[in-house]
Amino acid sequence: MANQKLKLGVNIDHVATLRQARGTTYPSMVKAANLCESAGAEGITVHLREDRRHIQDADVRTLRKSVGVPLNLEMANAEEIVDIAVDVLPDEVCMVPEKREELTTEGGLDVAGQSAAISQTVKRLQSAGIVVSLFIEPDELQIRAAADSGAEYIELHTGTYCDSMVAAVMDAEHDRLIAGARFASELGLKVNAGHGINLQNIAGILDIPHLDVLNIGHSIVAHAVFVGLENAVREMRVAMNAYNGGQS
Ligand code: PXP
Repeated sequence: MANQKLKLGVNIDHVATLRQARGTTYPSMVKAANLCESAGAEGITVHLREDRRHIQDADVRTLRKSVGVPLNLEMANAEEIVDIAVDVLPDEVCMVPEKREELTTEGGLDVAGQSAAISQTVKRLQSAGIVVSLFIEPDELQIRAAADSGAEYIELHTGTYCDSMVAAVMDAEHDRLIAGARFASELGLKVNAGHGINLQNIAGILDIPHLDVLNIGHSIVAHAVFVGLENAVREMRVAMNAYNGGQS
């Protein structure tokens, strides 16, 4: 059976980081999203953090009206943000853990440890017609808890693999990501992946089976400084075309 095409969701948070650094009205988030789309992105992702350090409420509302591909909203399980999601209605929500002092999302969501609260939010979002994904470590306990929560998707946290410089850590995490994706698929979950992916480490990510979407942000926006946003998206898209469904 032919593999379904691996899709690219571009996270444009750091376009907003540039704007927030000076409190300007530029660069335009809509223009950024449109350029990503025209360069082949199959989804646009933004993270509305509780501290609003980059994406603002108005960005999510404006993008909802102007983005032609699925809009994926990353968010913590915080009542105020869940209320916004249910009002704005992104196509998808990816629930992530959030700590105010962190530089970026650190670690996966502890679904097993907060199963009642997470299941309740999953149901609320799904009742509003939103597809729900849970950002978790490739860990059997968490994957099983994600399936039990009723979420359709998990997003496997690839940060440990991508950020490590230690071969033994990378090898072990590579195996965990492959096993985690297989286990999730056996449980009927759809599988996305993201965090820390760049043009140098993507080859190992493409070994993961059952992938639907890769969500990639920082490396694309950083590369865009040199080659422009459309070229940066195109280069990642081309690299992803090597996906053959991972190891079998
Ligand atoms: N997926 C999730 C759930 C994330 O929290 C992030 C970071 O916002 C990403 C993907 C993208 O990670 P990066 O910016 O390192 O590509």
